[in-house]
Amino acid sequence: MNKKLLSIDDCHSLNINEIKKLYKNHISNALVNIFEGFSFGNETVKYAEGQYIYTNQNKKILDFTGGLGVLNIGHNNSKVISERIDYQKSKRMEVYKNYLSPYLAGLSHNISEILPSDLNYSFFCNSGSEAIDGSIKIAYKYHNGSRKYILHSNRSFHGKLLSSLSVSKDNYEISFPKLAGTHDYEFNNLDSLNKKISELKKNNGQSDVYAILVEPFSASSMTSNSKEFMQGVRKLCNKHDIVLIFDEIYTGFYKTGKLFYFENFNLVPDVLVLSKSLGGGKSSISGYISRNKIAKKSYDNMSDVLMHSTTYNGFGEECITAISAINQMIENDYETKSLSLGKELNKELKKLQELNPKKIKDIRGTGCLYGLVLKIDSLAIRSIKIIPSKFLSDEKFIDKLVVTAIMEELYTKHNILTTFKDNTEVILCVEPSIISTKGDIIYFTKCLDQVLNKNIVLLVSNLLKNKIKNNNLFLHKP
Ligand SMILES: Cc1ncc(COP(=O)(O)O)c(C=O)c1O
Repeated sequence: MNKKLLSIDDCHSLNINEIKKLYKNHISNALVNIFEGFSFGNETVKYAEGQYIYTNQNKKILDFTGGLGVLNIGHNNSKVISERIDYQKSKRMEVYKNYLSPYLAGLSHNISEILPSDLNYSFFCNSGSEAIDGSIKIAYKYHNGSRKYILHSNRSFHGKLLSSLSVSKDNYEISFPKLAGTHDYEFNNLDSLNKKISELKKNNGQSDVYAILVEPFSASSMTSNSKEFMQGVRKLCNKHDIVLIFDEIYTGFYKTGKLFYFENFNLVPDVLVLSKSLGGGKSSISGYISRNKIAKKSYDNMSDVLMHSTTYNGFGEECITAISAINQMIENDYETKSLSLGKELNKELKKLQELNPKKIKDIRGTGCLYGLVLKIDSLAIRSIKIIPSKFLSDEKFIDKLVVTAIMEELYTKHNILTTFKDNTEVILCVEPSIISTKGDIIYFTKCLDQVLNKNIVLLVSNLLKNKIKNNNLFLHKP
């Protein structure tokens, strides 16, 4: 066969133009356009370690994205790496389809040890969406298909598989076919939820709702449900025998301070869905954990036990990576670390707001998951004549322009990588890994102060000129 195949070494040495060309030919032209609109999309990474990314352009970048929830223990944690290497060197088995896996057994045990109550039965797969899909299936099966409806909040994000999109807030102009029976309620509004439950009854007066899906802390809007709401949902689920599912994919493993955010409310879900930092930044692993009665009634019997399985569920190295990551977070008291970094973030961001009362509208968050909502002079930005009018149909476009101009300035002038979210308002995210230091936070807020005190209209106008020249403007869909 005379095919020109690239080796791994060839990949290591591809320069940015070669990478873009391959993306354009084999992945997507549009994706390259989006990346090119940011300076980081025109650079390449040599390696990453701890809270830093080292580029081939000889930059040391402070990563304040926390890998969007994946990097609680930082990039390339050395203990995780050495345990993975040991596993590989001793040729431990990866695919456990005929033998029982000691690693899957160990991980499931550890997860049940760290969780409260009888959250004892785990299933591990690879993406958050897949775990959401599985959790919906077991909730449906718990009622043996006799109930029709599942409820989710109107600001939820649970992933992009058809099932997880069906229970997420609508973001797309075209709607994909939905799972039957999904309804939304207003975020953090017990009356709205109660009303939906009362409407969705069978003829015999019994509830027709099989599950309620809740993100105790909504990472995409950086807002928490209230204690009253959370305790109210728990009571409603008990009363109507509805399966209560918590999605802590983003917020789990100390990201918000405690091991899981729901621990702030003195209650337990029936099913908990996890991913992201479960994999220690090295492995793609997700899972859902059910209470005894849910597992027993839905799948733990001889005819239904294979109701949910995937080729890659419970792969050896994924499991040992999760064991290694979780053990480190527990042994090194990540709760104290996250809470103390959170305190520092809160203090420093509030100071920044006092210094910039006309620029910062709101600071919100907890632990290592914070965000800033900026006060934006949209008239001044709109006066930049070159904004193509079609983009103004997106009501958040001006805010996104300003926030991306600030991100760009933080990156190019201060070597700090940030990200934004736009589920509700446009939020500049401040989400360091839990291994970050108070010094990192002070450096970040000092740099952000400098950026906020620049001429924002000029920053936006320069960013726009570049984006228009290179065709990099796009309408963002989260
Ligand atoms: C809260 C939440 N749920 C579910 C998902 C979906 O996870 P995945 O992208 O791994 O499918 C995400 C991803 O960001 C998330 O933040």
